[in-house]
Amino acid sequence: MTTDMLHTEDRKTIVREAYQAVTSTGGAVACKLYGDSQLSLVPAPARDMALGVANHMAFADIRPGDHVLDIGCGGGIDTVLAASSAAPDGVVHALDFLPEMLARTQRAAAEAGLSEVVRTAEGEMESLPLPDASVDVIVSNGVINLSPRKSRVFAECARVMRPGGRFCVSDITIVEEQLPPEVLVHPAAWAG
Ligand SMILES: C[S@@+](CC[C@H](N)C(=O)[O-])C[C@H]1O[C@@H](n2cnc3c(N)ncnc32)[C@H](O)[C@@H]1O
Repeated sequence: MTTDMLHTEDRKTIVREAYQAVTSTGGAVACKLYGDSQLSLVPAPARDMALGVANHMAFADIRPGDHVLDIGCGGGIDTVLAASSAAPDGVVHALDFLPEMLARTQRAAAEAGLSEVVRTAEGEMESLPLPDASVDVIVSNGVINLSPRKSRVFAECARVMRPGGRFCVSDITIVEEQLPPEVLVHPAAWAG
């Protein structure tokens, strides 16, 4: 028998349960992070579930026709913004491991008139359900920090990215030495 020193499954369960429990942020995160011109493109289902840590979409330089991957799309705020730039011929793959988040993203895309551009995908960032060299841009907001296997996530990003592709993410990091062990191993810390 082998022991998983990274507690991979336990940590994923903690993260799943934490985000299943979120029903709305009431738009507070969206209003804090995004500008009015961006918010005007985003329907309520996505705006009310924004859970990101920053606003990198202004720098992602998504162009019409781009194929984009949003890792951990949540309620879909960055997916909708990406889709409005990639439309009409581009594609945004919105990936999340929670079906309820994907349903919300689909609703937001439909309300924004972007259903043709957005393709939701249920899956894990450590094993992306996309072919090699299939995306031009990867975006992700507040998600990679949640993975117990971050090097695996980066390897998967390199696999699915086309040559010359762009990687534009916002995330959080900590200086582990500055935190006491009881905080570092606390489920709330793992769940972001
Ligand atoms: C902090 S929220 C960010 C959501 C969205 N990016 C935003 O800015 O509002 C994290 C999201 O990542 C998803 N997630 C966490 N771990 C994941 C994993 N291993 N694979 C796929 N999605 C994951 C969660 O279900 C949740 O929707």
